[in-house]
Amino acid sequence: MNDPEPRGEYLLVACQAGAEDVVAARLTQALPGSTRGAWRRGVVTFRLPPGLDPSPADLDRLRDSIIVARSLFRCSGQIHWKDDAGRLEALRERLPQARFDAIHLYPRDLRALAAADVVADMPRRATAAGLAAAFPEATLGVARPGDLVLDCLSDGDDRWWIGWHRAQAPSTCWPGGLYPRPLPGDKVSRAWLKLDEAIATFAVEFREGQQVCELGASPGGACQRLLESGLEVVGIDPALVDPVVAAIPGFTQWRKRARDVPLRDLRGFEWVVADMNIDPTSTLEAVGRVVTAPGSRASGIIATLKIPDWSRAVELDAWLGQFRTWGFTPQARQLSTGGREVCVVALRTGGQRPRQGRDGSAGVRQARPARRRPDR
Ligand SMILES: C[S@@+](CC[C@H](N)C(=O)[O-])C[C@H]1O[C@@H](n2cnc3c(N)ncnc32)[C@H](O)[C@@H]1O
Repeated sequence: MNDPEPRGEYLLVACQAGAEDVVAARLTQALPGSTRGAWRRGVVTFRLPPGLDPSPADLDRLRDSIIVARSLFRCSGQIHWKDDAGRLEALRERLPQARFDAIHLYPRDLRALAAADVVADMPRRATAAGLAAAFPEATLGVARPGDLVLDCLSDGDDRWWIGWHRAQAPSTCWPGGLYPRPLPGDKVSRAWLKLDEAIATFAVEFREGQQVCELGASPGGACQRLLESGLEVVGIDPALVDPVVAAIPGFTQWRKRARDVPLRDLRGFEWVVADMNIDPTSTLEAVGRVVTAPGSRASGIIATLKIPDWSRAVELDAWLGQFRTWGFTPQARQLSTGGREVCVVALRTGGQRPRQGRDGSAGVRQARPARRRPDR
């Protein structure tokens, strides 16, 4: 770590294109007195309240509370120059004493751009090489926790937004908060990568042999990822799961809608994963049914809430409140590999098991069921 840290009176938040209003509403609520600055698709800046100098831990909490922030950094504005050499010189002048441990070079959310702009917005290889040469002590790419990171967000081929953050949580180590792992070729759907990012983001720990059900399992990428962690998986979905996944030992499919599974069949699961293309309120209803089923053993939830329109994000806090009513502590993030949706990971508060089922029966821990019967 290299101190002292540079200062900056602006914050920049990068997000999925379209989520800017959500960023603005949640940031100004969490940080009263901050005011909105520049605004582009995928990028919003804010002026900090006068005299406020938030610590890296404050900024981590702020980023987490925004939920849809991909990256958040102390911003010292834009550098606008027609070529890389000029921009690099201006950058050095702007940050004369700063030494960085890592450099994150990334574009605005590419989904925001028309095809022609995409080419312009992708940082060029020469740009990366120039930055690496200008800051030889810094690593270009994924940072380590504790690193002071130079953020260089390319916005068109002639300007950068620049600033810095202190890496800490996993997603703050990834350039732009973008999950750096590609989808391996042998996976049946992108849901594999999404779940992999959720596990890395929230440091989810499974224990081998745990029982998990996935609501909305087809075609099966997420089940594949769960099976690779050594879990016993029941995929619940009226649509068929890919035969590659169906053949993996430890997997069973119940071909039905979540609400058609009898409550008595839901009580053995320790984890509930949900990724259904239905309204968030219906997803919550289906998840709630599993975790409050009489005798439920559920201790963890990984739920994707698909947001039909970002205007529905005003309901985010109420949705998270639902997890608390079931006795779970939720954390949420719009994953970089996900679409217009939010991933919620919730662990049972205090690690306790549910006290009672809906019917008043005691939540007695069940003996681990034998291999599940395939659904007929
Ligand atoms: C985004 S896909 C799931 C992707 C999957 N998790 C994977 O890993 O490949 C959404 C799935 O939700 C299923 N679905 C929608 N409503 C459902 C319900 N009420 N119960 C169970 N599955 C449902 C759909 O059939 C669809 O296969």
